[in-house]
Amino acid sequence: GGQAMWGGRFSSKPAELMQAINVSIGFDKRLAAQDLAGSRAHAAMLLKQGVITSEDEAAIQGGLAAIEAEIAAGTFPFRDEYEDIHMNVEARLRELIGPAAGRLHTARSRNDQVALDFRLWVRDACDRTVVQIQNLQRALVAKAEPHAATLMPGFTHLQPAQPVTFGHHLMAYVEMFGRDASRFSDARARMNECPLGAAALAGSPFPIDRHATAQALGFAVPTANSLDSVADRDFALESLSAASICATHLSRLAEEIVIWMTPQFGFVKLSDAFTTGSSIMPQKKNPDAAELIRAKVGRILGSLTQLTVVMKGLPLTYSKDMQEDKVPTFEAFDALELSLAAMAGMVADLEPVPERMAAAAGAGFSTATDLADWLVRTLDMPFRDAHHVTGAAVKKAESLGCDLPGLPLAELQAIEPRITAAVFDVLTPEASAASRKSYGGTSPEQVRIQIARWKEKLQ
Ligand code: ARG
Repeated sequence: GGQAMWGGRFSSKPAELMQAINVSIGFDKRLAAQDLAGSRAHAAMLLKQGVITSEDEAAIQGGLAAIEAEIAAGTFPFRDEYEDIHMNVEARLRELIGPAAGRLHTARSRNDQVALDFRLWVRDACDRTVVQIQNLQRALVAKAEPHAATLMPGFTHLQPAQPVTFGHHLMAYVEMFGRDASRFSDARARMNECPLGAAALAGSPFPIDRHATAQALGFAVPTANSLDSVADRDFALESLSAASICATHLSRLAEEIVIWMTPQFGFVKLSDAFTTGSSIMPQKKNPDAAELIRAKVGRILGSLTQLTVVMKGLPLTYSKDMQEDKVPTFEAFDALELSLAAMAGMVADLEPVPERMAAAAGAGFSTATDLADWLVRTLDMPFRDAHHVTGAAVKKAESLGCDLPGLPLAELQAIEPRITAAVFDVLTPEASAASRKSYGGTSPEQVRIQIARWKEKLQ
């Protein structure tokens, strides 16, 4: 191995354990593309500002291109003795182009370099995630559209509450994932400031042009405080927070799919593509993909916890603690991206069983609220009295072993003599769902309005 990049003031090599705890190339090699992009922009700027010569700049750009090709070909030597991706690239550059390589690090430190690389990586990850979320939303909208009027029970406390439609239920997740996508977009906009040029922590005495590098790397502006530039990892924390909320939503949908595909519910079927069998019980078809998605939030929220604990209490500016920012962030996005893709596939694969859902939609006296509302509207009863009368009707139906639409009129009239046969018009699940025409309600026409709005948005 060569002498460490910072070896000038050192007379002996680090202990093996020092290297073992210090080395990050095993994971930060994932920043290679970002590191090369940052170096290209930095070298071009140094040339433009007259800090390096055009010969040196050309040699640097050529060497960086060769390194990029080596990485693509899988021939780049990632070496532990060079610690991290930044020094691996620089060491290789020196092997390829000689002393000119040493000019690249003018007016730069690994502190602003890693802040830049990591920010670029997280920015890309947020962009990829937004695309993935939109793919999932498209899958949900496509599944919702033919089921805008398909009845299913709506639940509170996982107890039958009021009939809704399957399309309405799926569209609830489209809203949730829409907020997730906008959280990633917001985080992206806030992180889109370029830390390059903050150098070690205090800025640079060279006549660098930070606006030029910021622009070249697609940032809106350069960061405005050099200390903050190298100390800040908010962008990762904020993204992991958005990831955790998104994973929570995925977990809730996954849980519902698990419930829906139990034989007891039987609301949906999943094909062999997203289920697995049992090695002992031949009848089994298990929703493993849904269960794993349900669980991934543990890993993702764990990553947010990890990085928050790493960052808390760190004095300004850079501390080596911050090298621990990458693994949780990579892990969280890997888990989230895989979960989003698997969920999109699973949603497309879902086959609703409308008969099962419709049968369940009317069970559990789910139109009791409709009876109470009818009493209020038709008999001008105060809602609390109507609630009481309806409770008595439910009790009666329960004791007779029938549902509300099956209750004889005479039984209803024994509770409230003014009730007429017209009440039965509102006691079916179809009528119940169709009546909820308030904006955002479950009536099929309202559901179709939202489906149309999202189809437009997701085009
Ligand atoms: N590998 C380091 C990290 O990931 C790069 C920055 C090192 N800076 C330093 N002053 N030691 O954070």
